[in-house]
Amino acid sequence: MNLVVAGATGRTGSEVVAEACRRGHDVSGVARSADDVGDVRVSPAGELPDLLEDADALVDFTVPEASREHAARAADAGVPYVVGTTGFDDEGIADLREAGEATPVLKAANFARGVRALLEVVQAGVAALPDYDVELTETHHSGKRDAPSGTANTILDVVDDARDAALDRTYGREGEHERDDDEVGVHIRRAGNVRGEHEVLLAGNDEVLSLSHRAESRRVFAAGAVGQNPAAPTDPRLPFPCPRR
Ligand SMILES: NC(=O)c1ccc[n+]([C@@H]2O[C@H](COP(=O)([O-])OP(=O)(O)OC[C@H]3O[C@@H](n4cnc5c(N)ncnc54)[C@H](OP(=O)(O)O)[C@@H]3O)[C@@H](O)[C@H]2O)c1
Repeated sequence: MNLVVAGATGRTGSEVVAEACRRGHDVSGVARSADDVGDVRVSPAGELPDLLEDADALVDFTVPEASREHAARAADAGVPYVVGTTGFDDEGIADLREAGEATPVLKAANFARGVRALLEVVQAGVAALPDYDVELTETHHSGKRDAPSGTANTILDVVDDARDAALDRTYGREGEHERDDDEVGVHIRRAGNVRGEHEVLLAGNDEVLSLSHRAESRRVFAAGAVGQNPAAPTDPRLPFPCPRR
């Protein structure tokens, strides 16, 4: 396939470029600045319409304001759009939905397979323990812009769904305040180069159930974004960066 990666110079986008190369795709990139990733050509974002002319898909890990534009360009070109960017406001989500009227749009706050499984386990755990307190902690690298993470927001939605209620999201705690039954605590840490950690704590009845996920490299997000097909070639010995063919 001919893949265009938006945010190709970024922490995650560069992993997507590498993973797509390992799987034998033709890859080109766009970013705010033109700064090639090894042998993979990265063009300024303004050149995206030209690149989409013969693209099979656009994969995007940038920032919400750029992704809204990228979604519109993918829709114009009728190119399937895979977006991992997080931190969209309601208008941004509406733009993605609008793009989805014209072309397939796949949005996920977290492309790790383990996180998909975590969401199912959280749903089951919260539903099985309806009277237990729920607290969520997430940790990411110091360069992350949005807080809570998109994954944390997705987990909180799953908790609400399992409780069939909109729990009061309490962000950190300070001072004197007794915990209410209908609140869920949300604790956010930003430090170093942590790829992404999420822990859901369920506590009550003299016991604690802890459900957690930790990404050990950004390759897990890249692999999810370009497809988990185990039959796809993923030989880690293939050179990176790979030349554009
Ligand atoms: N869904 C998932 O599984 C998942 C996993 C990890 C991260 N994410 C999300 O992916 C996004 C990127 O994270 P990151 O850590 O990779 O960020 P990053 O390292 O800061 O990279 C951002 C990339 O976006 C480009 N960019 C920034 N502003 C732009 C603009 N206005 N127009 C075009 N390109 C622009 C940057 O280009 P320049 O270098 O030229 O500025 C860079 O290539 C975040 O929203 C993050 O939460 C999602």
